[in-house]
Amino acid sequence: MVDEAGARRRLDPAHWDFFAGGAGDERTLGANVEAFGRRRIVPRVLRGTGERDLRTGLLGCELTMPVLIAPTAFHRLAHPDGEVATARAAAAAGTVLVVSMAATQPVGEIATTGALLWFQLYPQPDREFTTTVVRRAEAAGCRALVVTVDSPVFGRRERDLRNGFLDLPSGLACENMRDADGRIRDIVMDEGLSWDSIAWLRSRTHLPIVLKGVLHPADARLAVEHGVDALIVSNHGGRQLDGAIASLDALPAVVEAVGGRLPVLLDGGVRRGTDVLVALALGATAVLVGRPVIWGLTTGGADGVRSVLEGLRTELDRALALAGAARPTELGADLVAVPRG
Ligand code: FNR
Repeated sequence: MVDEAGARRRLDPAHWDFFAGGAGDERTLGANVEAFGRRRIVPRVLRGTGERDLRTGLLGCELTMPVLIAPTAFHRLAHPDGEVATARAAAAAGTVLVVSMAATQPVGEIATTGALLWFQLYPQPDREFTTTVVRRAEAAGCRALVVTVDSPVFGRRERDLRNGFLDLPSGLACENMRDADGRIRDIVMDEGLSWDSIAWLRSRTHLPIVLKGVLHPADARLAVEHGVDALIVSNHGGRQLDGAIASLDALPAVVEAVGGRLPVLLDGGVRRGTDVLVALALGATAVLVGRPVIWGLTTGGADGVRSVLEGLRTELDRALALAGAARPTELGADLVAVPRG
C-alpha cells in the first residue's frame, strides 16, 4: 500500500532525509509510531454493524472519511506534478488537503483541481504580508486556516545540516510567499508568536482557525477561550521539539480539556487504518497523514497518493467492522488498552 522503500530508491538521498527525518535524535519521530504500537484494540462482537459509514463533517466540509492530508512542504521535490497531483488525489478521495505555506505551487493553481483545501499558515512577523497570504488563500477558496503554533523557531534537523540541504533547488520556490510586488519572501519563524497573534488573525479573517501543534491540555483550554475552531494534536511529525510527547500519548488529556467544545484532530505516526481507529477511539474527530502521502506522491504522483488514501479507507472500514462499530462516532476509549509488561 505505502511503498516507502520505493520512494527511498527514487529520491535523491538528501531529499529522502528531508522528508523522512526529524529533529535531534529523532526520539519523538520514533515515539509517534511506537505509541500506536503499544495500544491494543479490545473489539466488541455481535453488533451487526452492516455496511459502515465513514463520512465525517468538519468545519463545514463533508469528508468521505476521517483522514485528511497533513500540510507538508515542497511536493515538487517528490514529484514534478507537485501539490496539484496531491490535490487531485484528495479530490478523488473526497477529503481535505491542507496546503503547506511552503507549497511549491500557487494555491490558486492547486485549487483548480476542485479539492477541498485548507491553508496552513506560519504567521509572519510582517502582519501586512501575512494578510496578503491569507487573502490569497481566501481567494483560492480555502475553507480554513491551519495555524502552526509549534514553530517559534525551526527544529534542528541534523540530517539536513549534514547534507547541507538548506534551500530548494533552483527552479522550485515557495510560490505562496510572493509579496505584492511578486517577489518571493523567505518563510520566517516568529519567535514572538503568542495568543495575541491568534486574536489578531481572528480579527482579519472569517475563515475557521485551526491550531496545529497543541500538546498540553492547558493550551487546549486557552484555545477554546480564544475562540479557535479546531485543534490538531501534533508534534510536527517529530521535526520540531525532539523529546516531545508522542501525539497519541498527548491526545486523551487534550480531548478531556476540550470537553467536546471543539473538534480535536491528530497527526503523527498514523500508518494503518487500525491507527486511525485507535486515534478516533481515544477522542480524535479525524487524523491527518504526512509522510505516507509523500511516499505515494514520489512513487506514483496523483495515483500514488490516491492509493495511499484508498488503502487507509479500506483498512479503517475493515477495522471498524472487526471492532463492532458502524461509524467513527460509535468508537470509545473502552476499545483501547495498553497491556502491561
Ligand atoms: C511537515 N510538516 C509540516 N507542518 C506544517 O505545519 N507546515 C509544513 O510546511 C510542514 N512541512 C512538513 C514537511 C515534511 C517533509 C514533513 C514530514 C512534515 C508536519 C506535518 O504537517 C505533520 O505534522 C506530520 O508530518 C505528521 O506526521 P507523519 O504523518 O509524517 O508521521
